Amino acid sequence: MKSTLSSPLKTPQKTTPNIAPRSVPLAVPLLDLRRQYDGIREDVLAAIARVCDSQSFILGPEVEALEREIAALTGAAAAVGCASGTEALWLALVAAGVKLGDSVITTAFSFFASASAIVRAGATPVFVDVDPGTLNLDAALVGQRLRTKRPENLRAILPVHLYGQCADMDAFDHIVKEFAEEFEVAIVEDAAQAIGAKWSGRGAGSLGVTAAFSFYPTKNLSAYGDAGIVTTTSPEMAAHMRQLRNHGSPRRYYHDEFGWNGRMDAIQAAVLRVKLAHIADWNQRRQQHAATYDRLFAESGLTSNHGSNESGAPVRLLARSPEAKHVFHQYVIRAQRRDALRKFLGERKIGSEVYYPLPLHLQPVFSYLGLKAGDLPVSEQAAREVLALPMFPELTEAEIRLVVESIVDFYS
Ligand SMILES: Cc1ncc(COP(=O)(O)O)c(C=O)c1O
Repeated sequence: MKSTLSSPLKTPQKTTPNIAPRSVPLAVPLLDLRRQYDGIREDVLAAIARVCDSQSFILGPEVEALEREIAALTGAAAAVGCASGTEALWLALVAAGVKLGDSVITTAFSFFASASAIVRAGATPVFVDVDPGTLNLDAALVGQRLRTKRPENLRAILPVHLYGQCADMDAFDHIVKEFAEEFEVAIVEDAAQAIGAKWSGRGAGSLGVTAAFSFYPTKNLSAYGDAGIVTTTSPEMAAHMRQLRNHGSPRRYYHDEFGWNGRMDAIQAAVLRVKLAHIADWNQRRQQHAATYDRLFAESGLTSNHGSNESGAPVRLLARSPEAKHVFHQYVIRAQRRDALRKFLGERKIGSEVYYPLPLHLQPVFSYLGLKAGDLPVSEQAAREVLALPMFPELTEAEIRLVVESIVDFYS
């Protein structure tokens, strides 16, 4: 296939040995955190020094300030800082009432923690397939499942805002209302990849009763280690989660229930607060990069229309919901001969990654659920086709061009 990009990037020519012109990239990393660090280094080091000077290392004023700031950003009533996104998911589920013997519906196409947190809360995950356009949990299939074969003791539905785009939260609200007279079901958001995202103008983190965010170092808002936060629309649930993250202890050495140590470090909170001041700008830059990728792919002739699920095109883009403000934690394409393409890009020093190569219902650890290949075909096909391309705020247009040009070369 011939490239129709307006000004295709030529193979970089070396004018001086070992010195590459700045504007011509020779490699494109999937993520380069150093560029971010270079821009905020002094502020980060000052924030860490502030914590060291205070000698207060766990919870405390930095964590409390971060909690207030994240609640304000998301529109939630409260936020509770904790040790990781996985811990946040567990807190979100338990606070929403999930307990031993319950079941929770979730997507088969997510990171493992979306499902393992359900198990850790004592419940059984019930995997439902994803929407072929967005790859988010398919609300129509969830509704169908509730009408035809409702899981026993269903307590919650856990949609994941995959790659930074909210699942169809209006549809999940409708489901809750449709069945409200028969049974109560809580919506718990896995917003680990979606800080700053919105659905119909409402922030991710304020769309369910509780929501979990991850600050793992690769996330849009990232700590210098593990950290997470859980948000909630209920002040009572916030109080419960504060207790759960601290050994189920309402006051020191008195324990009302089983929680454990899920607390956030003050140093992580201090670093996150420095970065929080930049998140709107960083997310906006991700959106601009996504628009550049979209445009270059359209010009390349490799893609079909957004969201269509025709299998003919070598590269297909995921659908964008008009209600969603997408924060592009990842820019993901669906590619024919995906693994060969990934190898080809690797040889050109272009980073890429597969999120996720095996859907959750086929993970060996979930074999006890009795699901087999073919049961959730959309997730299974997505696992064979998805490829995440370089995406971070400091990425340059020249780098994006090189990525798309290389993909064009692969299919030529
Ligand atoms: C969708 C999703 N859920 C949960 C998590 C777990 O977050 P953490 O790695 O902070 O425990 C992640 C992070 O990788 C994630 O991407």
